[in-house]
Amino acid sequence: MQFFLDTANLDQIREVGELGLLDGVTTNPTLMSREGGDWRKQAALICDLVDGPVSLEVIATNHEEMIKEAKDLVSFGTNVVVKIPMIPEGLKALRELTERGIKTNVTLVFSPTQALLAAKLGATYVSPFVGRLDGLSQSGMQAVEQMRTMFDNYAFETKILVASVRHPMHVLEAGLIGADVITLPYSTIMQLMQHPLTDKGLATFLADWEAFQKNA
Ligand code: E4P
Repeated sequence: MQFFLDTANLDQIREVGELGLLDGVTTNPTLMSREGGDWRKQAALICDLVDGPVSLEVIATNHEEMIKEAKDLVSFGTNVVVKIPMIPEGLKALRELTERGIKTNVTLVFSPTQALLAAKLGATYVSPFVGRLDGLSQSGMQAVEQMRTMFDNYAFETKILVASVRHPMHVLEAGLIGADVITLPYSTIMQLMQHPLTDKGLATFLADWEAFQKNA
C-alpha cells in the first residue's frame, strides 16, 4: 500500500520524506488555503520536493474551465495529478483528460457506484472519503471494500486512494481490504509509529544495559 501525505505543508512533507515513508502528496483547496501566501509558488515547491505523484485540485465547476485549469496545473511538474470533483461536469472533464493522457484523481467520492463511474472513464485514482462517511454513521470502509470487489471483478486499473483518514484503524482496515493507496494526515503517520510497549521495552533495555555496564 502506498502512503501519500494529505497536506500542503512543506515541513511535514520534508519530515515524512526523511522517514522514507512518502510515496506522494494530496492537496485540496482547504489544505492549500491553510498555508496562506501564493498558492502557485506553494504548488511548485511541493511538486519539486516530492518524488511521486502530487494531486492538485481544480476550482472550476464546469468542464471547459476544469480542462483549462488542468492544463495550467500540469505545468507545475511532471508528477502532477489533476484532482477533479465527482460531479457530472467533472466526469466530462475526466473523459477528456483521460484521452489527453493526463493523470487524474476523482475526489469527493462517497459511494461505490460513484467510484465505478470514475473507473469506467479511466481515472488514475479514485478517492473515497472514509472519515466523512463515518461521521454520518455510514461505513467508509464498507464502501472501500465494495469498490475493491467491483474494480477486481472488471480488472479496472483505477487505483483506490483512501482519503479523509482520521486514525490508524483506517490504515489497518484499508490494508486488509487491499486499497492501493492511503493519504494520511501528518498526525496519523506519527500515530502509526507509536506503541507504549515499544517505549516501555526500550526504556527497560537501556536501563538494564546501563546497570550491567556499571557492574562490569
Ligand atoms: C483527499 O485527497 C482530501 O484532501 C482529504 O483526505 C480530505 O479529508 P478531510 O475529510 O480530512 O478534509
